[in-house]
Amino acid sequence: MKLTNRLQAIAELIDKDVVVGDIGSDHGYLMAYLIEKNIIKKGIASDINEGPVRNCEETVKSHGFTDQIDVRLGGGLLPYKKNEIHTAVIAGMGGQLIRDIILESKVAKTVDTFILQPMTGQDVLRRWLVENNYNIIKEVIANEQDRYYEILVVKHGKQDKTMSDWMIDIDMDDDLIYEIGFKMMMSDDYKGFIDKKIKKYEVIKSNIEKHSKVSDKLDQVKHNLDKLYEVKKCIQI
Ligand SMILES: C[S@@+](CC[C@H](N)C(=O)[O-])C[C@H]1O[C@@H](n2cnc3c(N)ncnc32)[C@H](O)[C@@H]1O
Repeated sequence: MKLTNRLQAIAELIDKDVVVGDIGSDHGYLMAYLIEKNIIKKGIASDINEGPVRNCEETVKSHGFTDQIDVRLGGGLLPYKKNEIHTAVIAGMGGQLIRDIILESKVAKTVDTFILQPMTGQDVLRRWLVENNYNIIKEVIANEQDRYYEILVVKHGKQDKTMSDWMIDIDMDDDLIYEIGFKMMMSDDYKGFIDKKIKKYEVIKSNIEKHSKVSDKLDQVKHNLDKLYEVKKCIQI
């Protein structure tokens, strides 16, 4: 079974021999891959919608994995018992929804490791994690065509605020740190991610310069751009 780059990057972050819950599993490809490659001993896939649950059951049956993968219907971490899973994967959803799934659940307290892949609101999710006694220990970027997906490995405990070694001397505002992450693994995909952020801020800068005279906003955008160019310089070394 071949996964997309995004799901492959998630699979590579999962420890061997753990019990994994895949919240919002949809098709269930990640679980099937983890069992097929003998990476985990048991998986529980769950989804809030019946269609995805049926698709997942089909994937599990067609691969002959019904003994190793349970498929459950339900929202967030509701279909799980306390201490039932070591690792929770919550991928392909908005950052705010991922935050709500974690904060509304008592089961979350008994999960050892979270692998989170927010599609939007990455900054909101990072800030909430840091402010709520979660520790982002590692972040990676996965690239598919023009999209750069941010994947966070998170444990319980106070955030270790030290940035990745290669960006330690850059003095960034919290807002920018929460936007680009601070435990990022260096990779070509990360370089592409930073280039894309620079392009985004260059467009915002030129739009403000063309259409408005709001200098506070322009100053902030220019400041962020300076910092992103500093990050880019660090990456190239
Ligand atoms: C875009 S798919 C992502 C599927 C897979 N996790 C991935 O990353 O490829 C999002 C899935 O999450 C499910 N979903 C949305 N909200 C959910 C919630 N609160 N709890 C569980 N599943 C949810 C949807 O039904 C859908 O199947």
